[in-house]
Amino acid sequence: MQAMLQYVDRPGVLDLGWGHPPPELLPVRAWAQASAEALAQYGWRLLTYGRNAGPAPLIEWLGTHLSTVDDRGGTPAETFVTGGASHALELISTLLTRPGDVVVVQSPTYHLALRILADRGVELVAAPADDDGLDPDATAALVGRLRAQGRRVPLLYLVPTFANPTGASLPEHRRRALVELGRRARLTIVEDDTYRELAYDGPPPASLWSLAAAGEVVRIGSFAKTVAPGLRLGWVNAAPDLVDRLADIGYVESGGGVNHATAVTMAVFGASGAYDAQVRAGVAHYARQRDVLVDALRAAAPTLTVPSPAGGWFLWVRLPPGGSARALLPVAEAAGVSYVDGSTFCPDGAGDDHLRLSFSMLPPDDLVEAARRLAQAVTTPAHR
Ligand SMILES: Cc1ncc(COP(=O)(O)O)c(C=O)c1O
Repeated sequence: MQAMLQYVDRPGVLDLGWGHPPPELLPVRAWAQASAEALAQYGWRLLTYGRNAGPAPLIEWLGTHLSTVDDRGGTPAETFVTGGASHALELISTLLTRPGDVVVVQSPTYHLALRILADRGVELVAAPADDDGLDPDATAALVGRLRAQGRRVPLLYLVPTFANPTGASLPEHRRRALVELGRRARLTIVEDDTYRELAYDGPPPASLWSLAAAGEVVRIGSFAKTVAPGLRLGWVNAAPDLVDRLADIGYVESGGGVNHATAVTMAVFGASGAYDAQVRAGVAHYARQRDVLVDALRAAAPTLTVPSPAGGWFLWVRLPPGGSARALLPVAEAAGVSYVDGSTFCPDGAGDDHLRLSFSMLPPDDLVEAARRLAQAVTTPAHR
């Protein structure tokens, strides 16, 4: 069975590196019910080629749903259904970049977004940031300098809400300044909004997508964190002309909607109330998990700086001065705990003074034990 899964179990190691839902939270029964209902309701229409941009039942439900968790959902003409947020970024970067371009990225940011973008042959440049996150004025200056050198800078990628890996959210005044920068500099801002609904301490901030005039920001979203990653289902909100270009990509035209049967089933899952129940259960579970790991780390390892993020799946933990996450990793793994080292999330190799710990997957007792093992590793002199 192991050969079916991306996750690799390493006996003896409590792995805080994986941002996955725990198996017991995956909606096996509710999804089976939605699948049966979708087949009963749509019959053969579920099993044939789907509309290129995605099936209307999902697009309509999603637009309405998003307007309940954000200041603006997206009209049907502004929505394209994808095989997850990764696929969304792959498609957008394929359409909007050329090899040799510069893509400006939040730093630290989702490490596999860096891979997706790098696969397009673009150069990744870290946006300047301070304690409040990405700095729009300094980023504007950076884009200006790069363009003055003759570089094409078509895109800026960021996760402004409950970010991977920091858990942090960009303050509202910076959101507005960033939207303004995108407009002024004709820079497409790609907002990865994957964690919006995993909010533990109150509602999430308004998206850049909702603050911008129609079409100025591209928002990508996913059902991987709220429902199940194996569904491979997500979306793009963008200007209608960009949605039309996505729908006109050769392989979309050849194969139709990219994950049609799953998309139709999600529409039924959403309309039945199962989606809302799933998100409620997830939010309650992950908020508890966050508190368990934060409390255990603060108690066991007082030299670590441990923030308590208001959403998402990750703690971005700072080592004591002089610490190196890369050097600590083998020591931690020998003590039976693992994580992702901070430099993985920075295109310029910064971030080695941080660890990314995920609280999403391990049972609470394992989180407490993982914190104990990490504290033991941190106090081992070998990694300094
Ligand atoms: C910020 C961010 N974007 C995208 C993804 C991947 O999403 P999907 O499974 O929908 O491709 C992840 C998963 O870790 C993520 O953290």
